[in-house]
Amino acid sequence: MDLFDLTGKRALVTGAGSANGLGRGMARGLKEAGAEVAVLSRSNGVFDVARADGFIAVQADLSDRTELVRGFRDAVGKLGTIDILINSHGIQRRHQAESFPIEEWDLVLEVNLTSVFELCKLAARIMLEKGYGKIINVASMLTFSGGVTVPAYAASKGGIGQVTKALANEWAGRGINVNAIAPGYMATDMNRNLMNDPVRNEQILRRLPAGRWGTPEDIKGVAVFLASKASDYLHGAIIPVDGGWLSR
Ligand SMILES: NC(=O)c1ccc[n+]([C@@H]2O[C@H](COP(=O)([O-])OP(=O)(O)OC[C@H]3O[C@@H](n4cnc5c(N)ncnc54)[C@H](O)[C@@H]3O)[C@@H](O)[C@H]2O)c1
Repeated sequence: MDLFDLTGKRALVTGAGSANGLGRGMARGLKEAGAEVAVLSRSNGVFDVARADGFIAVQADLSDRTELVRGFRDAVGKLGTIDILINSHGIQRRHQAESFPIEEWDLVLEVNLTSVFELCKLAARIMLEKGYGKIINVASMLTFSGGVTVPAYAASKGGIGQVTKALANEWAGRGINVNAIAPGYMATDMNRNLMNDPVRNEQILRRLPAGRWGTPEDIKGVAVFLASKASDYLHGAIIPVDGGWLSR
């Protein structure tokens, strides 16, 4: 369908270096819809993913502000321009709040929130000149609730919700759609510990109306929707893809 066609569009997807991560799933969706896709990640895995799926690979550590600019420019140089940005990189750190190391707080906020803002800014400078662009951030269930023992992650993902709305307010009238996807409990490396804990696994599955963990395949469609013409009048939205978790 033309509404979802991404032929000729150039996309950068960050955090797509994990074999079974959400970034890879979304990058595959964009490519299937016709876009040329560059994937950027810190890990060496980004080269394997790119080779297997026909993406352009860029390795960069987004916790380092100089590296971030280098990585972004490298990706845009290889793509030729940028029409779609998906920020899907992220990290998790778990400690009780009273003993949460401040260095880990800083790292989580830098990677999950500050670098996302910086990438949005860099992409928007190009998109504003063209009067066209689609920016998709990756929020979380912890954009809406606080979680337990993950205060830095919750703060960063709450911030993603706010930054998505703030940027939409500034750029909606100038041709850029800024929206977010809020995945629920997805079966990726980030959740390996939870899935391997029989008690937590059972608690999560019992609360999930869909009765199963989500997969990278499950967020492909929403990513294509938000990257395409079909979402031209959608601004500042945070779309849950959560197997019904929030409805429960
Ligand atoms: N898995 C879930 O249940 C879930 C739920 C809600 C939100 N999310 C979010 O979805 C996004 C993708 O997570 P995932 O589940 O695919 O996890 P993942 O661990 O498989 O992927 C995260 C990716 O981010 C990259 N990354 C981490 N730090 C980086 C850095 N400093 N520089 C560059 N790249 C870096 C990693 O290399 C990896 O490719 C994250 O923003 C995460 O917070 C995940």
